[in-house]
Amino acid sequence: MNYSTELHLALEALEAFAAAAADRRGPVIRQRPMVELARTLELDRLIAEGGLRGDGLQRFLKDYLAAATRLHHPGYMAHQVAVPHPMGALGSLIDGYLNNPMAIYEMGPSAATVEFAVLNWMLRKVGWRPAPMPGSSEAVGDHGGGVLTHGGSLANLTALMAALGRVAPNAWEEGVPRDLVVVAPEACHYSIARAVSILGLGRKALKAAPTDADGRLAPAQLGSYLRSLRQQGARILAVVANACSTAVGLYDPLQEIGGLCRDMGVWLHVDGAHGASALVSPRYRHLLDGVELADSLVWDAHKMLRTPTLCAAVLVRDHRDLDAAFHEEASYLFHDKDQPGIDLAHRTVECTKAALGLRLFLVLAAMGERGLADYVDRQTDLAAAVARRLRAAPGIEVAVEPQSNIICFRLDGADELQLAVRKRLLEDGRYYLSATEFRGRRWLRLALMNPVTDSTDIEGLLTEIRRHQTALG
Ligand SMILES: Cc1ncc(COP(=O)(O)O)c(C=O)c1O
Repeated sequence: MNYSTELHLALEALEAFAAAAADRRGPVIRQRPMVELARTLELDRLIAEGGLRGDGLQRFLKDYLAAATRLHHPGYMAHQVAVPHPMGALGSLIDGYLNNPMAIYEMGPSAATVEFAVLNWMLRKVGWRPAPMPGSSEAVGDHGGGVLTHGGSLANLTALMAALGRVAPNAWEEGVPRDLVVVAPEACHYSIARAVSILGLGRKALKAAPTDADGRLAPAQLGSYLRSLRQQGARILAVVANACSTAVGLYDPLQEIGGLCRDMGVWLHVDGAHGASALVSPRYRHLLDGVELADSLVWDAHKMLRTPTLCAAVLVRDHRDLDAAFHEEASYLFHDKDQPGIDLAHRTVECTKAALGLRLFLVLAAMGERGLADYVDRQTDLAAAVARRLRAAPGIEVAVEPQSNIICFRLDGADELQLAVRKRLLEDGRYYLSATEFRGRRWLRLALMNPVTDSTDIEGLLTEIRRHQTALG
């Protein structure tokens, strides 16, 4: 059956939606009650009857988009999710249409080749040797490796699985030894704590690394801390460093941490889900100096690389670590095959896996590396300017000097005030920001993801904040 009318309808509706949002028409967020939405969208009827096409689809899309959160709106400053480049979205559409789950080469040679190329691009950015193209005359030798997974959380779990394979190779057969610990700053993303529990180490095996007052891992104390853990009989599965932290966007000093971990023979995992994208920027690459000393890195393209969700890379310095992470045999998939490409299924939790590389590749092919670097630079510079503006405003405290596109600030007053102001802003719907905890207090938090957000939006936000603050007394 031909669905070209529906495809065109959807594309037209989406383009109009994004253009209106970018033009600041309508709210950035409007949360209607679920029960009301389900009725408006006629979900039960459509599920029971089917047949949604043409005019019906147009009506459905109108209601669906009206209730959607508008990431394309410059008032969107809340979460670390990309405002996707249309070419990246095209990648999702093409993949959805083809449905080539390419974790085994035979199910999607073009998708697998694109993922391979994108991973090698990322490995080069880190400073690790890219993998030789299968079937080419490139020397094999030592090289890095990677896989794209459905999100940074799964990617962190995958990286720690790789560490487990190296540190406790018998764990796969015999279970996880009781003496393993993971050392990470308290400011690490919650997916690290989850991974530790999922791996079966138990939440108590996550040890809080020494940090400075801003929550950055402190290399000067890390060595003695690791030694003291060892003296107590613990084996260190991995040290995890932030690049950058979720709450306030600060980078841990990777050069010193990396050197120390190398000297002590400890696996260093860098969670660069948000901040590794600075690797593409000649101006901000220095924030990740030393990342090449790590053993693994997680880098989400669906955060700062304008790529639609999801597209997260797990990268390792030595490909063998990732190759050994999952030992399961599935004879219908994993057997000696004479094939012109490679399978990635053995590097990931997933069996069926979307062609995630196409999303990032099409963004790169449209914007070029330079275009992405300009985007990272712009958002980082904007954050610095916003911090200066907020510091100059009376009664506003800025948490830290931003190193990325994340800024945290608070109004004079209790934690409840920050949350109450945020609630009112979201009810109004013109600005959408988040809130976080840092140094034991609540902060309002901006993640400047939108390439159209500018100083006029920041001024507008400040005016609205003041209005709500006054109203709240
Ligand atoms: C540092 C860090 N790691 C991991 C994640 C989780 O990534 P995802 O949301 O793609 O699972 C986030 C998400 O914000 C993050 O900031």
